[in-house]
Amino acid sequence: MQSKSFLAITFMLMSIAGFSQSEKLSMDALIKRNLALARDQYTLLESNLPADRMPKSFNMMTEKLETSDTKWWCSGFYPGTLWYIHEYTKDAGIKKAAEGRLAILEKEKHFKGNHDLGFMMYCSFGNAYRITGNPSYKTTIDTAAMSLATRYRPSIQSIQSWDSSKNFRCAVIVDNMMNLELLTWVSNNGGDSKFREIATTHANTTIQRHFRPDNAAYHVLDYSLAEKKLLRKTTWQGAHDTSAWARGQAWALYGYTMMYRMTKDVNYLDQANKIAAFVLNHKNLPADKIPYWDFDAPQIPNALRDASAAAIMASALIELSTYAKPAMGKEYVAVAETMIRNLSSDQYLAKKGTNGGFLLKHSVGAFPLNGEIDVALTYADYYFVEAMGRYMKLKSTL
Ligand code: GLY
Repeated sequence: MQSKSFLAITFMLMSIAGFSQSEKLSMDALIKRNLALARDQYTLLESNLPADRMPKSFNMMTEKLETSDTKWWCSGFYPGTLWYIHEYTKDAGIKKAAEGRLAILEKEKHFKGNHDLGFMMYCSFGNAYRITGNPSYKTTIDTAAMSLATRYRPSIQSIQSWDSSKNFRCAVIVDNMMNLELLTWVSNNGGDSKFREIATTHANTTIQRHFRPDNAAYHVLDYSLAEKKLLRKTTWQGAHDTSAWARGQAWALYGYTMMYRMTKDVNYLDQANKIAAFVLNHKNLPADKIPYWDFDAPQIPNALRDASAAAIMASALIELSTYAKPAMGKEYVAVAETMIRNLSSDQYLAKKGTNGGFLLKHSVGAFPLNGEIDVALTYADYYFVEAMGRYMKLKSTL
């Protein structure tokens, strides 16, 4: 714990010490600069990556690149980010890298070991299909939806996140909202309507059971399938059982915004607005809008920040702004802009050739498990690049 406090204090002093040149740039110039950096960084990352592995994290203290096999829940983010970078820069080397990583990921369309197929197969193949229209990518997405649907448990009207273990009997985590995009997309694009029914049932159950009265999401709900009953509301990555784990709030915000896009059910829009209100009005959301890793972290104001939560929230808020009433929409864009600006500062954004080729520094994977603390993570980069793309699109249509 001592080293974590040291990190947090060093980090805070660095924040106070300096804003970078990014402060002076227009958003347009800032994003263009960042996307060129993304191309260079991901070219570097690709050059250091074994052909059969995916990047996982980079620790600046140890200078160590961690990689994973394709079953890791994050295996879709790297190819997805490559596709976004290719979309915005048209770089041919990046496209080749994206195609190569899809080739090693494709077999996971049959994976049924947890709920993460949406992250794995939609962030990757979903973007690939959207950008290229290659029908084989759609076949992969359709198969992945069938695999994910096997985890639906009618007795609790939810998709089971994790298999039974010594920690949980039947865990459903708020992160699961993100996997519903795969299911709804397949139904909306010629597939069986049952995928969409599973997704909406899961999203409705989550609204009923997964939120505190102040609209913060719990992390884990543990069920007994045999008894068809909720056993407890608890956590795995948060500060304590009833705390508001920052990335959990980010997943919930993004998840309900996305579900409104996919279904036009106003209950999902209402829920997204309620989660946004919780986050944006929270006394522990710092002025720079980069959340602490948990809104209830006992170390606040010396708690570590989580760049990944900021990136996910920024992307979600930009989309939500397009559905919200004008005054709210303006506020959402302003907060997202602050998040993108601060993530673009020297504090968070890597310099070319550093950070193992990742873009963002300072994310927190699983603080209580002592895992991936204050490191670069693939999903922080994915949602950061997505947020910048969404921002550019939003502004060009204004
Ligand atoms: N389980 C996904 C996350 O760590 O956010």
